[in-house]
Amino acid sequence: MAIKTINDVNLSGKRVLVRCDFNVPIKDGTINDDSRIVAALPTIKQLISQGAKIILVSHLGRPKGEKNAKYTLAPVAGELAKHLGQPVTFVEDCVGPEVEAEVAKMGAGAVVLLENVRFYAGEEKNDPEFAASLAKLADAFVNDAFGTAHRAHASTAGVVKHLSPAVCGLLIEKELAYLGDKTAQPERPFTVILGGAKVSDKIKVIDALLEKADTIIIGGAMAYTFALAEGRTIGDSLSEPDFVDTAKSALAKAKAKGVKFLLPLDNLGVKDLDFGAGTVGEQKIFEGNIEDGWEGVDIGPKSIELFSEEVKNAKTVLWNGPMGIFEIDACNRGTFAVAKTIAESGACSIIGGGDSVKAINMAGYGEQVTFMSTGGGASLEFLEGKELPGVSVLDQV
Ligand code: 3PG
Repeated sequence: MAIKTINDVNLSGKRVLVRCDFNVPIKDGTINDDSRIVAALPTIKQLISQGAKIILVSHLGRPKGEKNAKYTLAPVAGELAKHLGQPVTFVEDCVGPEVEAEVAKMGAGAVVLLENVRFYAGEEKNDPEFAASLAKLADAFVNDAFGTAHRAHASTAGVVKHLSPAVCGLLIEKELAYLGDKTAQPERPFTVILGGAKVSDKIKVIDALLEKADTIIIGGAMAYTFALAEGRTIGDSLSEPDFVDTAKSALAKAKAKGVKFLLPLDNLGVKDLDFGAGTVGEQKIFEGNIEDGWEGVDIGPKSIELFSEEVKNAKTVLWNGPMGIFEIDACNRGTFAVAKTIAESGACSIIGGGDSVKAINMAGYGEQVTFMSTGGGASLEFLEGKELPGVSVLDQV
């Protein structure tokens, strides 16, 4: 399904409601990571240069349908203005007569940012009346909120009924190209690295990628469930015993399809892990079985070597999920080594959102990868092959 983008329509002079994902980490009014704001700039700039009137709408956090100053988008307006080099008017509401009056004053190329759309319960309920009051502000709709495209909310899907054209922005276009086209017709060999805590979170992604990849590498805590499936002991490591059969069928499927499926050869085990304090006690590398009393927290040196060799030979690499508890210094070696190898591989490298983006940035290689997704849940659902409701409702080519 090919979706129209802002390049397919003329939005000049029009009032355009632009849904962005400005759900950024803010502490005491300070934005700690502006990557989602930066990712939204190309669309906003293009609309400015076309002389559109740009009405930005977003959510921030989960305020549960009530106004709550903790979740105000006000700091985002200031940050955006700095990036755009022009004023961004912040409106302290997102629907109603005062907002309409503010929009009526807008000239060509002006940018307004509305207050958090989740201050209204109608947003997450996709309430038709709420969607109509949002849509009333504009003539056309652009969805560029990839991170929220898996939600059928009023500002991502409901408004489309009232606004035409309704197209995607340049960020969503790019996300679909990398997470979609580049993994559907990858330059081969295509290596996928999956990590994170749970097999249950990733099994649909594994299933979908078994159809596309040449190699699937598994790390993180979910590898311990696979270790159980292979009859190994895992000590006190995190696992999902209920998903051991699921892991067994993934292994069998990979074998039947001729997909190379790599599990860690060794792991770092620790005692007395204290996540809050960021500390661990005794440390030991285990090859194969992990002894009782030890918790696996990272892949070991032999696994790093095995995984790195595979990545070095790949032409396309997709990474989603860390290899261990990378937030703790003593346990970040595997994740950071994978980040380095991916960054230096020369392959088309696609980082699938959430923790892996955080990890690659912490390791200092964020600038060296081909593409980093701005979606967490959205990128997972898209990789699973699910339709994204915020995309499927848009105009098609
Ligand atoms: C995200 O950060 O994943 C998106 O902004 C979606 O947020 P949500 O999970 O609260 O809908």
